[in-house]
Amino acid sequence: MNADVEGHYKGEGNLADKIAAGLEESGKSLDDLKTTDLATIDEFHIRGRKATLELGAQLNLGINSRLLDLGSGLGGPARTLAETYGCDVDGIDLTAEFCNAANVMSSWLGLTGKVYCQQGDATDLPFPDDHFDAAMTIHVAMNIPSKDKLYSEARRTLKPVGRFAAYDVIQGDGGDVHFPVPWAREPAISHLATDDEMQSLLTQAGFRILHIQDSSEESLEWFEDRMKQLTDSGQPPVSFNAFLGHDYPVMVRNQVRNLAEGRIRTIAYVCEG
Ligand SMILES: C[S@@+](CC[C@H](N)C(=O)[O-])C[C@H]1O[C@@H](n2cnc3c(N)ncnc32)[C@H](O)[C@@H]1O
Repeated sequence: MNADVEGHYKGEGNLADKIAAGLEESGKSLDDLKTTDLATIDEFHIRGRKATLELGAQLNLGINSRLLDLGSGLGGPARTLAETYGCDVDGIDLTAEFCNAANVMSSWLGLTGKVYCQQGDATDLPFPDDHFDAAMTIHVAMNIPSKDKLYSEARRTLKPVGRFAAYDVIQGDGGDVHFPVPWAREPAISHLATDDEMQSLLTQAGFRILHIQDSSEESLEWFEDRMKQLTDSGQPPVSFNAFLGHDYPVMVRNQVRNLAEGRIRTIAYVCEG
C-alpha cells in the first residue's frame, strides 16, 4: 500500500532539478527566491497557501514552538509557517523524492535550520511522546486507511494541551469520487472518511475538537479558477504537473465535478490534545 502511494506521487527524475528549471523558465532566480514563488507547487492542497495560513493562525505558534507536519509533501506549509511564526518544523512524508526536494527547496530559501523533512510513515512516527507544541496534517489522511493510527500518533507526540489541526478531503454524500484525482489515479489508494467518521476518529484518539471549518464552496471556486487558468494559459512552468504529469488537467476537471456534485468536501478540524 505505502509503495503504491509513493509511486503515485514521486513522478520521474529529480524533482528539485525540475522545479529549478521551471523557476528559471519563469524568470525567478534561486538567489532571490521567496516562499510565495514556490506556492504553485509546494502548497499541494486545495486553496493553497491561504489555507495553510488559516490553519497556522489556530495553532498558537510562536518563535519557540516546535511544529510537526504529518505528510509534509514538498514542505510548503512547513516553510510558510516557519517564516510566518519563526517556529521550527519537523516534516515527515512517505515519498522520499518529496522529502529530498523539500530539503533542497528549504536551502534555496535559507530555511534549512528551521524546517527539516524526513522520509517516514505518519502512522508510525520516529518521535518521542509529548515532543511537539503543535501538529498539523494537510490533505494526507485520504491516502491512509488506518486513520486511527495517524491520529493516535499525532496525539502521542503532542504535548498536553497542544493544538492539532487536520485539513482534509472528506467523503460527501453525493456518491463515489470521479478518478483520477490529485491523491489517487484509482480507488485502491483513496480512503476518504465522512465528517462523522472524522469527528469520532479524532475524539477516540484523545483530542477535543475546538472548531470545524467547512471550506467546500471556496474549494469549488478554487478549482474552477485552476481550470480556467489551464484553459486560458496552459500549465505554468512551476506546477503540480512536475510530478503528477499529463493527468493533472483531467484531475482538475474531476475535482470541479466532485465538489460541485457533493462527492467530496474540504473540512478543517482544529483540536486540543
Ligand atoms: C496531497 S499531498 C499533501 C502534501 C502537503 N501536506 C501539502 O499540503 O503540501 C499528500 C502527501 O501525503 C503523503 N503521505 C501519504 N500517506 C502517507 C503516510 N502514511 N505517511 C506519511 N506521508 C504520507 C504523500 O507522500 C504526499 O506527500
